[in-house]
Amino acid sequence: MKRCVWLSVLALIAVGCSGGDAGKTAEGGGTTPTPESGKKLVVGFSQIGAESDWRTANTESIRSEAEKRGIDLKFADAQQKQENQIKAIKSFIAQGVDIIAFAPVVETGWEPVLREAKEAGIPVIVSDRRPDVPEDLYVTFIGSDFVKEGEMAGEWLVKKMGGTAKIAELTGTTGSAPANDRAKGFRNAIAATPGMEIVFTQTGDFTRAKGKEVMEALLKSPAGKEIKALYAHNDDMALGAIQAMEEAGVKPGEDIIIVSIDGVKAAFEAMVAGKLNCTVECNPLLGPFLFDAIEKMMKGEMMPKRIVVEDKMFDETQAAAELPNRKY
Ligand code: AHR
Repeated sequence: MKRCVWLSVLALIAVGCSGGDAGKTAEGGGTTPTPESGKKLVVGFSQIGAESDWRTANTESIRSEAEKRGIDLKFADAQQKQENQIKAIKSFIAQGVDIIAFAPVVETGWEPVLREAKEAGIPVIVSDRRPDVPEDLYVTFIGSDFVKEGEMAGEWLVKKMGGTAKIAELTGTTGSAPANDRAKGFRNAIAATPGMEIVFTQTGDFTRAKGKEVMEALLKSPAGKEIKALYAHNDDMALGAIQAMEEAGVKPGEDIIIVSIDGVKAAFEAMVAGKLNCTVECNPLLGPFLFDAIEKMMKGEMMPKRIVVEDKMFDETQAAAELPNRKY
């Protein structure tokens, strides 16, 4: 049955190309790739871990949406390790699940295991982060535009600082798509403003604990004394850094202006308290997008290779009004 799913996907891709349907791929079709009647659809999902509030909300969204739709979800938490994700994907292949979905912790190193999935006839959907693999190895990639998020953060900071600031950057997990893209987007945004200078950059691995630890060390160093702004690749690292600043007698949000990414509730609370200045949303509620894509694929509908989830930006002036609306 799985081989049928992929063969149908490939057949429709070919039709899509010859039919001039540029930028589209198709999933399913031909033989109806549904599980035998009475059987639930089985989806294996390999999650990165539980490193941040964002990730917790993402997991909850996927689990609850699967339950709502009566899908048998096999969920594996990789604890931020690529080797665990590869093991989980291999195990989904061995179990013969209908579909594999995963959020790749880093960009590289996925091709062999995705080829195994393809050879087993199991379609793969990518969620949240982009893997660096040929496009024929997955059906569609659903997630935010991380470069744009970095650009939004950078543009906001240029305005807020009047074009001059020594900036510290807390980057996400080394080698991950959001860390690479958010670094790039931010640099794009400040490139034309020479007064905006990144004087420190270090990973905080997307966690609150590491964000705090890195900021503690920075504030004790000579470089820490000249920092006027912090750009954190996610809210959790910013929240950890805020704690470190307060313990060092530095006023977060005043002595050091802070912009981060995700838009989690705790970031809005920090903005209301005057400790964080801006957060760029990165929507973690991907469950409905993922299972809509799976259902379309099962029906043989055409769908784009890339599904971009739109994000907004919120600063301290909007935080109090927006806080009651936050869903995560
Ligand atoms: O891939 C999305 C990123 O991963 C989120 O910004 C971060 O909080 C998470 O850990």
